[in-house]
Amino acid sequence: MKQQLENIRLQAMQELDNATTPAALEELRVRLLGKKGELTAVLKQMGKLSAEERPIMGQAANAVRAAIEEKLEQRKTVINAAVLEQKLAQEALDVTIPGTPVNLGHQHPMNIVLQEIKDIFVGMGYQVVDGPEVELADYNFTRLNIEEGHPSRDRSDTFYFTDDDSVLLRTQTSPMQIRAMENTKPPICILAPGRVFRKDEADATHSPMFHQIEGLVVDENITMGDLKGALVTVMRRIYGQDAQMRFRPHHFPFTEPSCEMDMQCHKCHGTGEVDGHVCSTCHGEGWIELLGAGMVHPKVLEGCGIDPEKYSGFAFGMGLERMAMGRMKINDLRLIFDNDIRFLEQF
Ligand code: PHE
Repeated sequence: MKQQLENIRLQAMQELDNATTPAALEELRVRLLGKKGELTAVLKQMGKLSAEERPIMGQAANAVRAAIEEKLEQRKTVINAAVLEQKLAQEALDVTIPGTPVNLGHQHPMNIVLQEIKDIFVGMGYQVVDGPEVELADYNFTRLNIEEGHPSRDRSDTFYFTDDDSVLLRTQTSPMQIRAMENTKPPICILAPGRVFRKDEADATHSPMFHQIEGLVVDENITMGDLKGALVTVMRRIYGQDAQMRFRPHHFPFTEPSCEMDMQCHKCHGTGEVDGHVCSTCHGEGWIELLGAGMVHPKVLEGCGIDPEKYSGFAFGMGLERMAMGRMKINDLRLIFDNDIRFLEQF
């Protein structure tokens, strides 16, 4: 029996040395040490031995098992290293082969302009805030001094959610004025960009969804001069120091006095004509309307718990698409929303 064990050991050592793959090693492990393995077969004969012989044989068998296990581990390390080596050699990559170009996207022209405008206002101390697109009629109209029955509240102009017309898609970012004045005490200096919605057919200058940027400044001694100064400064930063602008009187229920600000048309340079034809960008006006603005109406201040005797403020709401069209020299509003790569790639 001792001889049998010694044979198993010698044979095992040789076979393990010859094994070169992890699979071959595993097969040997099962054959030598497994339940139906050679060593187990020998141990099963122990019962036939005398009481003195049994422990001696047991020890010898354990020694053989330990020797085989040790050898198995050794071979495993060597074989795994070889397998890795081979894999690395096969997967070697040639870093000098030219790569496949990846087309990088970039920001949408309107977002580029929005970012520019935000940066300028933030530099002037404005805080950028965000608000709901689904708005209460109370904020969108009533508290902005737009009474029941006002034409802008008409169902043909506004997307309503409820039968009682109390919830709607905001038609302007001006409700953010109310939200700002409700949430903070003066001094207030905020910028609120966002989407607004009106029942408009899409054409070169209209879209049922567009973007506005609302601004509100409320403090002691704020005047129309502050309004003009702020807006002219911003427009010159965006359109260049020699950009031509004008203010026109206008009416908004929530500002008094109110005005609109125009920029000279970038296409016809104010002449209203291009190659003898009426300019299609400004419809021959020579000017493009950029925003509405004015001094916050005392009734609106009061409704938000701000004393109009002590505080005054100005507000403005600019059309982001209009701003982007002027800045990027885009002639048709629909191009901004079409997402045509041939158009977008130009920016
Ligand atoms: N909300 C107005 C509009 O959509 C613009 C505006 C904003 C006017 C703030 C005055 C003050 O036309």
